[in-house]
Amino acid sequence: MLDRAFSARRTQPHSAFDVSASSDAPSVPESPSLLADDSKTKKPHFYVLATNYISRLGLIKSPCLCLSLSLLLGVFLLFSLMLNSRSFVCLSSYDPISRASFFGLDGLDSNFGSLGVPWCRSKQGKTVEWTSKDLLKGLEEFVPIYETRPIKNNMYGMGFDHSFGLWFIARWLQPDLMIESGAFKGHSTWVLRQAMPDTPIISVTPRHPEKYLKKGPAYVDGNCTYFAGKDFVDFGSVDWEKVLKKRGISDFSRVLVFFDDHQNELKRLKQALKAGFNHLVFEDNYDTGTGDHYSLRQICDQFYIRGGGHSCFKESDEARIRSKRKKFWEKAVDTDELCGPHEAWWGVRGEMRDNFNHNNTQISYAEHFQNSRFVESILDVYWELPPAAGPSLTHQTRYDPARAPTPILEDGRYRMFQRLGLDRLDRSVFNGYTQMVYLQISKPES
Ligand SMILES: C[S@@+](CC[C@H](N)C(=O)[O-])C[C@H]1O[C@@H](n2cnc3c(N)ncnc32)[C@H](O)[C@@H]1O
Repeated sequence: MLDRAFSARRTQPHSAFDVSASSDAPSVPESPSLLADDSKTKKPHFYVLATNYISRLGLIKSPCLCLSLSLLLGVFLLFSLMLNSRSFVCLSSYDPISRASFFGLDGLDSNFGSLGVPWCRSKQGKTVEWTSKDLLKGLEEFVPIYETRPIKNNMYGMGFDHSFGLWFIARWLQPDLMIESGAFKGHSTWVLRQAMPDTPIISVTPRHPEKYLKKGPAYVDGNCTYFAGKDFVDFGSVDWEKVLKKRGISDFSRVLVFFDDHQNELKRLKQALKAGFNHLVFEDNYDTGTGDHYSLRQICDQFYIRGGGHSCFKESDEARIRSKRKKFWEKAVDTDELCGPHEAWWGVRGEMRDNFNHNNTQISYAEHFQNSRFVESILDVYWELPPAAGPSLTHQTRYDPARAPTPILEDGRYRMFQRLGLDRLDRSVFNGYTQMVYLQISKPES
């Protein structure tokens, strides 16, 4: 049952990983070698290597003197490493500018950094059941699957991180039916199919993926009903009760709905709730000030949430930090970009964006506030997918790591990155991360 995927305990946003998996959850292959990453621990001690080296040179005959010199050298190197450790970890050979001073200030693996990133509160404080170990094991299994994807160039569609997230969530939940809204060339349909080989899919998308076949790779699934082309009906206008009944599905809690259609997520949330769906994934969960539709991340960005709410004051600490971050991360926004007329920072410059930026509405702070209260009243679980690996491993330069959860594979774990085969992937596939989110929702308690 889908229900088994959640525990009733909820602590800090990142403590989703503290909860251990239930015994009846779908198993992911055990891999002790993966979990015991020895890349940092099994190196020979430095002084042993140094002693051997100096002895081999034959310059110093006394073993005592040799050992003392090695120790001195070791202490010196250790000091310089400590002084430069942040830049040591973070510098990427691809970066035009050194990021050392920047990281030295704010930290690469910051839990949302000094700016803070808001978190959507749920009704009972429930969290997901899967752990960081489950995610790591999932990565090991998913990398070779991803390498067989039919659409190698999925520009404007999902990259590696979100493909993994969708695959992992679908496989964990084991739904009876998967619905996607927004298929493009069919990559996400393919991902869902890899997670659940025999489960029916309904794909709602204006242009049928088969149309893309004329120009290049696309994926059309044999066990998928397409509401596309002349059969296209927007998700919000589909009679889901009728559609599900036709497929013999009466329990909406066994259906997973995936949105990658760039529509206002508040609108989609209300439509999904009205239809009776519980399990939702939103692909693009844009940060405040970015993106082409109002997202959960934006909605929950409120002063009463730790790290939420913003300042448009140009001399503020926030403005200084923002302008600094912008130099290093393409998607970071400075205060000028963040703030619209009358210092409106919520949504995107005070706009509730919709439909690929085509239907935007200016909203007041009071409306924005009410939106978040509504979301909290229906939210049972809010879980943001962490990036697969830190930026010093993936070399991504787009999203600011301080605005994302701690990666599954943290910076510095290059041996593990290699072992998982992540180094074989083109680095462009790590650029599309936008905080994909999994939600569990239910009607507000009266
Ligand atoms: C970013 S693409 C989807 C990418 C796809 N999920 C993937 O990973 O490759 C967005 C898709 O949403 C479709 N779209 C636009 N309006 C839509 C709507 N109202 N309902 C569903 N899909 C819509 C677009 O035609 C486009 O195919």
